[in-house]
This record gives sequence, structure tokens and C-alpha cells, in this order.
Amino acid sequence: MSRVVVIDHPLIQHKLSIIRDKETGPKEFRELVNEVAMLMAYEVTRDLPTEEVEVETPVARAKCRRLAGEKIGLVPILRAGLGMVQGILNLYPTARVGHIGLYRDPETLQPVEYYCKLPTDLGERELFVLDPMLATGGSVVASLDLIKRRGGKKIKLLCLLAAPEGVKVVQEAHPDVDIYLAALDERLNEHAYIVPGLGDAGDRLFGTK
Ligand code: PRP
Ligand code: URA
Repeated sequence: MSRVVVIDHPLIQHKLSIIRDKETGPKEFRELVNEVAMLMAYEVTRDLPTEEVEVETPVARAKCRRLAGEKIGLVPILRAGLGMVQGILNLYPTARVGHIGLYRDPETLQPVEYYCKLPTDLGERELFVLDPMLATGGSVVASLDLIKRRGGKKIKLLCLLAAPEGVKVVQEAHPDVDIYLAALDERLNEHAYIVPGLGDAGDRLFGTK
């Protein structure tokens, strides 16, 4: 079974409290989502391989460690996943970015795919799938199915908020994918929104409501 890691850091919890606040407008919401994604990336990349190098400091030679060149791919689930991309690129600028376009049909709650463009060397990359919201889990499971059909193997999922129902669905469908969260919320409501949640992440990011 996959791991569920709640990154319980004071900076993340502080920023999340502002993100959740319904009075926070799109500009601040966008900035904070990117900042939280960046902080989460710090934890998620903890096991990246490093190699020893020697550098000449102004004083002496020093044995240091540098990233060993693991290829990273970010895969935001449109739209809301876009809000997490820049924060992670700030830390890992050479990552390639693929996009999966899905929206959740408001009646059936089933994910509807409308776009997919992924790096061609997917199987050689460590992939971080990005979506601020894991609600029923339908969108994430459909995205992980698609990524694996295209050859993706090494995958981690990063979400700001999740409902326990969605976590269970993803763990059952993709037990090899570890799930990183900024917070695990209480439940879903009758419209399959996360409670207490933050509302509609895409609309709040892009100011469409
Ligand atoms: C939201 C969110 C997730 C999905 C979560 O996207 O960003 O992708 O809902 O719900 P689920 O776990 O029940 O599938 P939405 O469908 O609102 O599309 P948008 O990002 O384009 O607004
Ligand atoms: N999608 C959102 O944007 N918010 C939720 O609470 C659930 C799905």
C-alpha cells in the first residue's frame, strides 16, 4: 500500500489557513498555492539521488554532493494543477512539464478528458502529478491510468487537500503511488466538495467565479 505523507510544517499550515479563507482573492491565492507547492517539493524530493563532487572553495578543496541528474517530470491536472507548477520549477528548473486536461462532470462526478500532452521519455522520469484537490479521487485515478498507459512508472502525487474517501480510492487503484498532502480534511459533502476544504480550486485560482 502506498504511503500517505501529510507535510505538517508550520509554514505550510500558516499559508494553507490563508488559502482556505474565502476572503482571499485570486492574486494572493495563486501566490500561496505556488509557495505551498514549493515547500512540498522540498519534502517530496528528499530521496533524489546525489553524487560526490569536489569543488575548490576560496580556502581549500571540498567534497560536496550534487544532484545526480535524475530526470523529473511535472504533470499538472488542468486547470487547478497549473497553480502548483511554477513553485516547483523554482526549485527544479530543468523539470519537463506534461499536461492532462480533465474536468469533473458536475452531474456524474466522472472525470472527462479533453487534453493530454506528456514528455515522450515518460518512463525515464520521476513524475510528480499535481492537483490541489483530491476529492472523490476520480480525476487522479484517471490521470494515473493515462500516465501509466503512456509508460510512466515512478510516480508521486502532490495535493494540497484531500478527503479520506479520495485517498482510499487512489490507494486501492494505484498502490505504488505515494501521496503527499498539505492537509487531510474531514470528508466530502453531498456535492463531493472537500470539507472544510477551500472551495473550487480552479475558480479561485483563475477568478472565474
Ligand atoms: C477539480 C480539482 C480536481 C478535481 C477533484 O477540478 O482540481 O482535478 O476537481 O475532484 P475528484 O477527486 O472528485 O475527481 P475540476 O473538475 O473542478 O476542474 P478545473 O480544475 O478545471 O476547475
Ligand atoms: N474540486 C475542487 O476544486 N474542490 C473540491 O472541494 C472538490 C473538487
